[in-house]
Amino acid sequence: MSHRKRTVGSMTHILLGVTGSIAAFKACHLASDWSKQGHEVRVVMTAAAREFVTPLTFSSLTHTPTRTSMFAAGHNPGDVAGTPDRPLAINHVDDAKWADVLVIAPASADIIAKLACGIADDQLTSTALAYSAGPKILCPAMNVHMYENAVTQRNLRICRELGWTVVEPGSGMLACHDSGKGRMQEPGLIETAVDDLLRENRPDSEMPLRGLHVLVTAGPTQEPLDPVRFLTNHSTGKMGYALAEQARDLGARVTLVSGPVALQAPHGVDVVAVRTAQEMFEAVQGRFDDSDITVMAAAVGDFRPQERSSEKIKKNGRDNITLTLTSNPDILAWAGERRREDQVLCGFAMETTDLEANAAKKLASKHCTMLVANNLRTPGAGFAADTNVVTVLRPGDTDDSPVIEHWDKMGKGPLARRILVELASIRMGARQN
Ligand code: CTP
Repeated sequence: MSHRKRTVGSMTHILLGVTGSIAAFKACHLASDWSKQGHEVRVVMTAAAREFVTPLTFSSLTHTPTRTSMFAAGHNPGDVAGTPDRPLAINHVDDAKWADVLVIAPASADIIAKLACGIADDQLTSTALAYSAGPKILCPAMNVHMYENAVTQRNLRICRELGWTVVEPGSGMLACHDSGKGRMQEPGLIETAVDDLLRENRPDSEMPLRGLHVLVTAGPTQEPLDPVRFLTNHSTGKMGYALAEQARDLGARVTLVSGPVALQAPHGVDVVAVRTAQEMFEAVQGRFDDSDITVMAAAVGDFRPQERSSEKIKKNGRDNITLTLTSNPDILAWAGERRREDQVLCGFAMETTDLEANAAKKLASKHCTMLVANNLRTPGAGFAADTNVVTVLRPGDTDDSPVIEHWDKMGKGPLARRILVELASIRMGARQN
């Protein structure tokens, strides 16, 4: 299989085949989601699909004429014949060459049978036959008895052998009121399957973290005082989650050790949920030796209450109370002491004054390969923002003079990517030395 240029993470050319099934309405969500995500989507409909949803629906969602016939002169109204300047499009071949991925959703029993034997009697089947260079996905949708029929199962087996990835239908009450397997999967799940497949098909040159284990810490910690109260901080986990997602998109196997946050667990990432600094420490201790690159973006509570009351602390008429705090383990410092030469370790530093001096001290004392520092007071930086403005420090010839770079304000996603690309190249250097 040859590799395509455009892939997940950037704009992708998605060719969506829609066949006759009530699940065609879910294909509208797919077309809409992908378009909104910035991908280019072309839709090919069979005659049966057009009984359920109109081509205009997809053309409107994708801003591209929907393909319905092999014998239309072109995709633009008014195209009648080719000219030397504007050669006649051979639509099914052009679309097959254009696509980075072919998704047939919903895929009826009929299209699955046709694909299994190579029939090319309409625009979709001809396009599918002409498409050869990228991933291809079938999302079956049909009555449970049609799905379980030995001939459909045989056809699906043949399709798999021919390189199709099958997103298995779900079970439940079907439109025909039979109950069982045959309901097309939800759009979110199909989108995830497409992302995963595109990632697998990306060339190594675009996947600098392929084969590596990246360990990320994220979010705040909570240090309980009693059963109803805890000490914590304003961290939202956005930076750490962006790092985990980008590491996955750059090909890594990712473990995300996360304090309590309101963010959705990123798919394809092993999320270890923790609450206290001690729990985060134990989660990291159990995984650090196996990591190639570790990025600690968590805002770990430095102290916890020395006493944790098993009952709610009552006022008992007091005007003030004194809390005694005791220090938590410094997870980054522990990792810095322990790391092997080939392990890359990146810390974060949140400062409110003397950013460079404080960050330089942390870089040296915690034995980091790189430290990403930000000032809470800088506009566009900080916990809840979607952007960050960072200063990046690397060890120089002496601890007192690290190499310092100031990066412009950027979204936490692009920043996470840039940090990881930098760490990947440091790791490559470490391996070669
Ligand atoms: N960190 C950690 N464990 C701690 C405290 C901090 O792993 N107990 C990590 C953070 O995840 C971050 C880095 O150390 O990567 C720096 O955290 P920061 O809170 O900025 O600094 P501290 O080391 O806590 O120092 P101070 O609070 O004095 O600025």
